[in-house]
Amino acid sequence: MNDKIYLIIGGTGGIGQAMVQQLVQANHSHSVQIFATYHRNEPNIEAENLHWLPMNVSDEDSIKKSCRYHQTDSRSRGWVINCVGLLHTETAQPEKALRQMETEFFLQNMQINALASLLIAKHIKPLLAKANRSANHPAVFATISARVGSITDNQLGGWYSYRMSKAALNMGMKNLSIEWGRSLKDVCVVVMQPGTVDTQLSAPFQGNVAEGHLFSPAYSAECLLDVLSGMTVAQSGSFVDWAGELIPW
Ligand SMILES: NC(=O)c1ccc[n+]([C@@H]2O[C@H](COP(=O)([O-])OP(=O)(O)OC[C@H]3O[C@@H](n4cnc5c(N)ncnc54)[C@H](OP(=O)(O)O)[C@@H]3O)[C@@H](O)[C@H]2O)c1
Repeated sequence: MNDKIYLIIGGTGGIGQAMVQQLVQANHSHSVQIFATYHRNEPNIEAENLHWLPMNVSDEDSIKKSCRYHQTDSRSRGWVINCVGLLHTETAQPEKALRQMETEFFLQNMQINALASLLIAKHIKPLLAKANRSANHPAVFATISARVGSITDNQLGGWYSYRMSKAALNMGMKNLSIEWGRSLKDVCVVVMQPGTVDTQLSAPFQGNVAEGHLFSPAYSAECLLDVLSGMTVAQSGSFVDWAGELIPW
């Protein structure tokens, strides 16, 4: 029996890869198994207890196949962390104004940033249902969201597709925490703000970041893992930042 299984979705991204690296460094034992998914390219990070799987979160069959892979082990503690996200593509940038809205880019944001976590939850539920867990040591289903998905916090406007997709993600995960609170006990469902982190996602927008406020992926990953390690089931359905502070919806 394994003691713990981690599943890092988007393990090749800036924050996701830093999480994978930290988990590998901290857990040499075979009792901890780390699964990580990649999308376009399989990375060359190797460890005996690290397993790479392909997953395209825009394709439900791919999600299903990758989630099924884990369902052989019955009693580990399970942590699932979705680090996948989209802010810009090779051909599209986040909107500064309404006239820049494009249906295709909006739907792509909704699919990758909002819908994906629900589909992952749907297909990973059997693993979490079997997980060894309790109210004080719950299984975890976390997704990296973004503070700009907070409606209360929105002072600047812009970035319609990204903001709306993260707000929709937040609602989806809040809903899921309520459903699982009834039907799948002792799973903590959370959405998290990682800080402003130096990755390819934020690279074009780092100009206005105040000195000392741009986190390295390693620092952000460490903070997020630390916050998750202190979560109890009472915190399921919350939106927290890298320091564990609650963010208003
Ligand atoms: N960086 C920041 O300052 C910041 C701030 C707030 C919130 N966030 C959030 O933090 C999360 C991680 O962002 P990051 O900064 O680490 O970004 P990143 O370096 O761009 O990583 C994004 C990851 O998403 C994957 N991905 C994109 N489309 C996918 C698909 N269809 N299927 C599977 N994987 C896909 C990418 O893989 P491929 O490259 O192979 O497609 C990549 O691994 C995102 O949710 C982001 O919105 C970041």
